[in-house]
Amino acid sequence: MEKKEKNQLIQTPKGMHDILPDDYAYFNLFYEKAEEIASYYGFQPIETPILEKAELFSRTLGETTDVVEKEMYTLRTKGGDQLALRPEGTAGVMRAYIEHGMHTLPQPVLLSYRGPFFRHENPQHGRYRSFHQFGLEILGEEKSIGDAMTIQIFHTILEELKVGPAIVRINSLGDKECRPNYRRELVGYYKKYFHALCKDCKNRFKENPLRLLDCKDAKCVELKKEAPQMIQHLCHKCKDSFREVLEFLEASKIPYVIDNQLVRGLDYYTRTVFEFFLDRPDEISSIALGGGGRYDELGKTIGKREVPAVGATLGVDRVVQALKAQKISTKPKKISKIFLIQLGVAAKYKSLSLLEMFRKAHIPIYQSLSKDSLKSQLIIALKLNMAYALILGQKEAIDSTIIVQNIETREQETVSINSILDYIKLHLGESSKSQSKSVK
Ligand code: HAM
Repeated sequence: MEKKEKNQLIQTPKGMHDILPDDYAYFNLFYEKAEEIASYYGFQPIETPILEKAELFSRTLGETTDVVEKEMYTLRTKGGDQLALRPEGTAGVMRAYIEHGMHTLPQPVLLSYRGPFFRHENPQHGRYRSFHQFGLEILGEEKSIGDAMTIQIFHTILEELKVGPAIVRINSLGDKECRPNYRRELVGYYKKYFHALCKDCKNRFKENPLRLLDCKDAKCVELKKEAPQMIQHLCHKCKDSFREVLEFLEASKIPYVIDNQLVRGLDYYTRTVFEFFLDRPDEISSIALGGGGRYDELGKTIGKREVPAVGATLGVDRVVQALKAQKISTKPKKISKIFLIQLGVAAKYKSLSLLEMFRKAHIPIYQSLSKDSLKSQLIIALKLNMAYALILGQKEAIDSTIIVQNIETREQETVSINSILDYIKLHLGESSKSQSKSVK
């Protein structure tokens, strides 16, 4: 039995996946666009550790949220620290802001981040245990323009990536003034139907009643329809703030719908919360591409500091899925059609400096330096559909020349190494100079 297990192929852990080169091109396409847009708005990159103290998340995301209760990967270090693989980025960014005294900088501080995050969820369509996020946080900003700017930037990123029309679902969760009243109303309503709630909702009723609105169980969905709505219970300040955010969105012509049942899965939110969806009828449109909101109380929970703040993140794996579904091409057009063939020790030595010479001229060049024979290298060049082979033999290495062979016609000529770049540029034309993508 043990022997059989040993012989089994070791695969990625459940819910985790490799990003292979073809998909990596989509990730790069996404990050280039997202980071470029964010930088124009003044965001600066930050990177926080993938492992944080587990308490950072249990204290801020909510002890009774699914993320903390069921989905965190935790470990105890040899020194006895309880750490967790980060399930999200906002708590870490706020910790860093406070820890490094960023409140002394001109406010607000605009930070962007990207990287892997981990949640032990049931893997399903668009839901992984290891996934990637791109996030923006505006720290030290209390005005609702910050909420609107966050939404606008993410909307622009999705629009410019051409993943399809995006729509924002938006709600307000009130603040510490008005939410307790609403919570009481909600509990009062659900009390009458407690017996009809699903098992999870019976727990939610006791521990985190707002989460009742997030249930997908058919019977609970029916009950939700008549449940009291938070926006009917907002205090004046929260109502004004929500109205302002909607006015900004209208002024910027960003399509949105008010979703009274949007509560989000993390407890640190106050006032505005929102999620991004694709507005088209397919499978991807049913899952959120991203989400965020205002979290004015998080600073106090982490470091006893008032830090009004707002932010959001996009799930990069999901955006990539949407890009692929739109058949957006990322493949750089084959800019190089050149294969370097080297024969003999002297040629091999010279090959490295030749590759560097091409790199400096921004001309990619394929090679198989570990191969020795002309035949084996030509076979690879043919398989890769190369147009030209540059053949560097012993004689050429000594003479500082190189043979250029047109692979299709088999015509060849000898060119001096000093003029090979000009020769290649002339023969391959402008297309060999730069890569082109379909999303600009
Ligand atoms: P979140 O809604 O938990 O918010 O996650 C944001 C996005 O990450 C989701 O909309 C989804 O696209 C992606 N995502 C989440 N879990 C998974 C998963 N298991 N597999 C694939 N993708 C996933 C946050 O994380 C907050 N930190 C957002 C925020 C920033 N709020 C304020 N600032």
